[in-house]
This record gives sequence, structure tokens and C-alpha cells, in this order.
Amino acid sequence: MALPNDFIWGVAGASYQVEGAWNEDGKGPSIWDTYTHARQSPVHHHETGDIACDHYHRYKEDVALLAEMGVKAYRFSISWSRVIPDGIGRINPKGLSFYSDLVDELVRNGIEPMVTLYHWDLPQGIFDRGGWLNPDIVGWFERYTKIIVDALSDRVTYWFTLNEPQIFLGLGCYTGAHAPFLKMADRDVIKMSRHALLAHGTAVRTIRQFSKKPSKVAFAPTGPSFVPSDNSEEAIEKARSKTFAFDDYGYIFSNSWWADPIFLRKFPDGAKEFFGSDLPDFSEEEWDLISSPLDFYGCNIYTAMRDLKDISATDAKEGKQGEPLTAINWAITPEVLYWSAKFFYERYKVPVMITENGCACTDYVHLDGKVHDPQRIDFTKRYLREFYRASKEGIPVVGYIYWSFMDNFEWGIGYDARFGLVYVDYETQKRTLKDSAYWYRDVIASNGESLWD
Ligand code: NOJ
Repeated sequence: MALPNDFIWGVAGASYQVEGAWNEDGKGPSIWDTYTHARQSPVHHHETGDIACDHYHRYKEDVALLAEMGVKAYRFSISWSRVIPDGIGRINPKGLSFYSDLVDELVRNGIEPMVTLYHWDLPQGIFDRGGWLNPDIVGWFERYTKIIVDALSDRVTYWFTLNEPQIFLGLGCYTGAHAPFLKMADRDVIKMSRHALLAHGTAVRTIRQFSKKPSKVAFAPTGPSFVPSDNSEEAIEKARSKTFAFDDYGYIFSNSWWADPIFLRKFPDGAKEFFGSDLPDFSEEEWDLISSPLDFYGCNIYTAMRDLKDISATDAKEGKQGEPLTAINWAITPEVLYWSAKFFYERYKVPVMITENGCACTDYVHLDGKVHDPQRIDFTKRYLREFYRASKEGIPVVGYIYWSFMDNFEWGIGYDARFGLVYVDYETQKRTLKDSAYWYRDVIASNGESLWD
């Protein structure tokens, strides 16, 4: 038996991507509401999350589907501005009830709720006050966290502070591909990173202090992961050092810019030389806060990066023509789950959870009324086998969360990418379990043993 008996098999989603109801029941706007509504929004076909999967109204039906799939956990995020419309002031009781009801429904169905506090939908009211650039955001995030912890921690054990800080600052404020579509200077992006690290730390402390039951806390970063070109020591070392390199792909996108402060209580090698006096300095107290112990290393991993000598940084995720690719051209590189688990465990010395991994396919409803998605099954089987291998070699693994539960709004590319195990017809909101959902159900039931059938 290679996977622990209590291995967590889950699926994920995120508020803006699935909920819809963007202005209902007292919810305030987030930057994704504002910027997808803007005339110059670069999102494909000018799509928005106004309705998305209408999960806000259909959460009971959706939890029933989760139960049908036999998943052990559902990782979802809270829309900050649904709970606190301007991010800092009055609480919206209806918003809070929505999440409390969702948690109840999950618990009733035997599904572990996993809460992500911040999955990119910054309240517009906070953006208007400077967003991540304003140092007050740390206190605002602390208050928001406390409100959520008070409301949900009698039933919630698993907490994620920030989802992919690399992306919400990197694509949101550095390259401008995501809302609020900004291209800011390093000096400002560094300040925002500083505040995001402090917000993370303050949330961890708040959860630990006020949770009504023992908590498991992590964050869910991403970053460039590499696999060795062969099994030589030299190739392995090269892949490892590139995985933790500070600025090969832009520091803001790197693993080490975020995880070294959080797990090693220091900036990554090279940061000081690179930034000089622009590097944020933290007091001893702040370092303690940022490096508050976490229970595991969460990681969102989809593909191994290609060497920059072959391709530009922004295209590095994209495979070469002729290689196995997903529907959005990400290279299919299953070994990345083995190598990342190994590298992250060796460096940060905590168990590993894959907080996101999944495959976008060109799914549609076939003549027989079903959604056949053999590519997704093959993809997931290959990746999971590699994670299983890591476990077999003694790397402690906590769980695997497939992205995503159902098709949803894929940020800059709108609804073009379908990652779900559940197909969503956006005209009718009809859900159909894809073949992969039934396949995943069997994998879960066998605790991974059926991966070898
Ligand atoms: C990363 C993000 O956390 C999620 O929101 C996104 O949809 C998936 N990965 C796929 O790109």
C-alpha cells in the first residue's frame, strides 16, 4: 500500500470562477467584476464571471455531485467582497451564510471542506485604497480571516491562506494579463510581495489562535517546476536548482521568492544582489510571523517548464508542436509530480499536498448524452502514478486535489478551457459527469490501487 489510508482525494474550485451572483444579496464588487466589465478587458470574448456556473444558487446540487463522485474533500475559496462588501467595513450576513450553508452541506455529505481565503478576487474597495500596495491590507486581511474563522472553524480543519501569489501579483500587476491588468515596476511589485507575505503570516496566526478545532494550514503556491533530462546526478541537480532559481523566469513567478521566506525564514539566494536596497526588510517579529509553521507544502502543478534557452519565459509552459499537449497547449509531463514532490519535501521538510493538478480538454456532450474524455483520464492516471511513486519512495504525501470540480471561468481565457470532471452547459447550467468523474470515483474508492489496472 503506497498511499496513506487517510490520503485526501479532492477536487477544487474558486469563488469568482464558479459562483456567479456577482452583485446579489449584498455582495460588493471585486477587481474581477470591475475589470471584466471594462470595455478594454482582454478576457476572451469579453467573458465575465457574472453568472459563471451559478454555483451560488446551485450549491446543493453541486455538493450532491461531489458526493456521487465519492470525493473526500472540496477545496473552495471565499469571495472576500461577498462577506465584507468593501473589504474593510460592514459584514454582509447573507454572504457569510452562503459559506456556512455550503460547509454544512459538505459536512452532511461526509466531504471535508477546505477553505482558501484568497483566490484573487480582491474587493474593489481595497483596490481603490491601493490594494496590495497599501500596508493596511495586512490588517484588513487579518480581520477578514478572523471573521471567517469565527464563522466556519467549528466545522473546517483545512485552511489555505493565499492561492498562487505568483500569479495574482505576477499576472495581475506585473505582466498585466489578469485583473487589474497592470504592469507595475519592480519597486512596487516588491512592496506588494512584502504585504502578501505578511498577510499570509497574519492569517496563519489568526487561524491557529482562534480556530475552534485543531487546524491544518498551508498556502497554495505555484511556480516553475523542472524534471531532469535523465537520471544522472548532474541532471537531477540542474532540475532542482532551476526549480528554486530566484529569477530565471521572473522572481515574482518563482517558487523560492515565496516559499523560502515562509519555510526557511529568509530571502532566496541572489535576491539581495538583485534588488539591493529595494529588497524589503522584515523585523525579527515580522520574520517570525511570515515563517509561522505550516502543516504541509501545498502546490498547484500542471506541467514542467521548458528550458528558457528554447523559448521565451511567457511561453515556457507551452509544449513543442508534436508533443503531447492539453487543449490549452500545456505540455503533458507526468514526472513533474514525482520530482516536485521530492524537491519540495527535501528543501522545505514538510509533507506535500497537490492542491491543484488537472487537464483542459475539448469536451462536449456526445451523441449518447455522455462526455467521453479519455485524454483527461490518461493525463490524470499518469500524473497520479508519479505522485504515488514519490509516496512509495518515502516522501510524505497528504493528498491530491484535482482542478477542477467542474468546468468554469478560466480567467484571461474565459470559458474556452474546460478543466472539469463535470461538464457545464453554460446556456442551461446543466451538469454532466464526464467519464473521468466516474473513473476518479473508482480511483478514490481503491485509494489509488486502481491506477495500476
Ligand atoms: C491555477 C488557479 O489557481 C486556478 O484558478 C486556475 O483555473 C487553474 N490553475 C488552471 O489554470
